[in-house]
Amino acid sequence: MARWALVLALVGAWWAPAQLMEPPHCAAAVRCAAAGSSQSEYIYIVDGFTVYLEYTDSGYFKLKCTAGLRLDNSALPTFESQLRVNKVYFEDCPSPQSSYADVLERFNVVVLEKMTLTKIGNLTATHFAQLQHLHKLELLTAALAPGALSALSQLQYLLLDSVRTAPGELRRLPASLETLSLMRMGMDVTAADLAALPRLDYLVVRDPANVRVDASAAPRMLSLDLPAAVLARELSPSLRKLTVFGWGEAHPAPWLQCALESLDVRDALAEELPPGWLARCSALRSLRVDSAARLVRLEPGALRGAVELQELRVVSTALQYLPPGLLDDLPQLKLLDLSSNRLLELPGGLFARTNSLESLNLSSNQLTQGVLSSLSAVTSLVSLDLSNNNLKDSCGSKSDAVRGNIRDKFEVCWRLRD
Ligand SMILES: *[C@@H]1O[C@H](CO)[C@@H](O)[C@H](O)[C@H]1NC(C)=O
Ligand SMILES: *[C@@H]1O[C@H](CO)[C@@H](O)[C@H](O)[C@H]1NC(C)=O
Repeated sequence: MARWALVLALVGAWWAPAQLMEPPHCAAAVRCAAAGSSQSEYIYIVDGFTVYLEYTDSGYFKLKCTAGLRLDNSALPTFESQLRVNKVYFEDCPSPQSSYADVLERFNVVVLEKMTLTKIGNLTATHFAQLQHLHKLELLTAALAPGALSALSQLQYLLLDSVRTAPGELRRLPASLETLSLMRMGMDVTAADLAALPRLDYLVVRDPANVRVDASAAPRMLSLDLPAAVLARELSPSLRKLTVFGWGEAHPAPWLQCALESLDVRDALAEELPPGWLARCSALRSLRVDSAARLVRLEPGALRGAVELQELRVVSTALQYLPPGLLDDLPQLKLLDLSSNRLLELPGGLFARTNSLESLNLSSNQLTQGVLSSLSAVTSLVSLDLSNNNLKDSCGSKSDAVRGNIRDKFEVCWRLRD
């Protein structure tokens, strides 16, 4: 007890300076006045404009402007002692005449890691002078002049959301970038763009317009959220993890090149998955096809070649039947989730080769008692979910999701059928 009290006292002492960090004060009393505060927010009136300000020592500094206020306004309040923070947010503040470094200096704030600017207007290279040490930058609703970010030589993370730029501007981004998020940019991402970003590891593109992203040049991780994305048939040899929300191919063809370890497609328009679809994806360990309302057919051999597959999820599709032998080439399969389809039955021998299968989810289908004979072959199972099917008897009631010894649980059913 005493020891805990001591620890708490020490923690309290360590945190104390954060509580004591004086809020910024107004130098020009005629033009600037404090107008109240809540827990972490301070309100000032500067030249008649309201300014909302938040900060925590070492944490962040956030300033929200009301229309008309400019960041170069010399009457804005300043901290007496320097505030060092990891993150700075300027919300709804039009870009200043000077650089952001100058603006921060006037506030007496030092930013170490990340800056987020929203509703900014035009940004040029001048605005980012003296900020070469920034690692992360987020720009939301702005216009970027050519080369505006070129000098940020240590930038690793960049998010651009609704930012107007000249075509080809991606090629002028800092070569240090590792993560790039492009939201609502209405801009294609070409192989040449990606070649100019040698350290890029993760690319995220989310757009209500159907922009094209060249997956044949993608980095290690690619995440797309588009109305109907179409992918190159030769996936980049670097691409390991691909996530596609809105996969627009009704009749996908087998990939000709594929080094994927993880593939996750949602809201897919595919009507069938062809034979040899994954034939070149021999390193694939996890596959998810989710929300494919038109998917009625998996061709035999659709999964052939994905010999390393450990987790397979085909969920929320229109599938009523599966082809025989679908799982025969997946000896490593540990998890199979076929929930929320329209499966009426399982083909005979489906589990003949799945000796490692531990978790099986067949819930929310239209399976009948016949399914139990298929299941008696899967001795490795530790988790089985058969809920929301048409089992309609003691073998399938509310308690259809079971863990532990599946054989014991269903022994009665299997014996009934033998
Ligand atoms: C931004 O720049 C464009 C052209 O470069 C110009 O037409 C526009 O007026 C500028 N907007 C602001 C808010 O300065
Ligand atoms: C099976 O899938 C359904 C629907 O996706 C989910 O709600 C349920 O939790 C899953 N069961 C298990 C045992 O994971």
